Amino acid sequence: MVTILNITYNSIFHFATAVLIAILAVLMFRYFILSLKEKSYYPEQWANLLRKKKISTELIIIEENYDDKIRFYNFWFQIERLKRENISGDFAELGVYKGETAHIIHTLDKSRKLHLFDTFEGFKKEDLKEETGEAASYSSKNFADTDIKKVLANIDGGNNIIVHKGYFPDTTKDLEIIKYAFVNIDADLYNPIKEGLNYFYPLLSPGGVIIIHDYNHKWEGAVKAVNEFAAKIPENIIEVADKNGSVMFIRNK
Ligand SMILES: C[S@@+](CC[C@H](N)C(=O)[O-])C[C@H]1O[C@@H](n2cnc3c(N)ncnc32)[C@H](O)[C@@H]1O
Repeated sequence: MVTILNITYNSIFHFATAVLIAILAVLMFRYFILSLKEKSYYPEQWANLLRKKKISTELIIIEENYDDKIRFYNFWFQIERLKRENISGDFAELGVYKGETAHIIHTLDKSRKLHLFDTFEGFKKEDLKEETGEAASYSSKNFADTDIKKVLANIDGGNNIIVHKGYFPDTTKDLEIIKYAFVNIDADLYNPIKEGLNYFYPLLSPGGVIIIHDYNHKWEGAVKAVNEFAAKIPENIIEVADKNGSVMFIRNK
């Protein structure tokens, strides 16, 4: 009797092990195929320049390591267009944190001055108070763990980069008039996004572009700031299908 039970138990155990191994093998195969598919996708324009070895190794490494490919290629397409169309002006980013996107933007055109606006100490409490949606769960500690020196060291040692540390828009008060060709607004909240659009739009060169990150239902403040602003300008706002949903507009010529 004990022997029969043992045999039954052993068979069930072996069968369960075989099923688990089979499931694992299918999952690993699927993961392998998916990772192959992801790696083989490039916009044709990028692939063409890659083949001709016209993309710097530095940019290739950045592209490989940045997970939001559509956001990356959107930056790339826009900055390539600015070069092609000779759109003059500096670059700017509002909302820098540790400088990941600032690094991309700078590497895409090192000849332009890049202005970085951030408290480098996280959000202001007053701005958070009015927030709803995802941002309501944030505190002034979020994004406070950064350090300008490290940020600059990671971006070409700070070459051609101007840091405007402090609360935006206060940091613009003593600034001379600067013309911008490319502005990336990645400040998450209603107040800084609203102020950013009000400040940068009149300074944007015709043909210049402003991109705003986090235009989706989770970021209610960001959506509100963009929608209110969009209602006041002649340009159409275009949605970008990157991970968190960006929007952008190109200043009319
Ligand atoms: C999502 S993070 C930026 C992420 C960054 N672009 C990256 O590539 O990792 C948002 C940043 O906006 C900054 N920020 C938000 N409101 C601000 C304000 N009024 N003035 C200055 N910086 C602000 C925060 O300090 C934070 O570093």
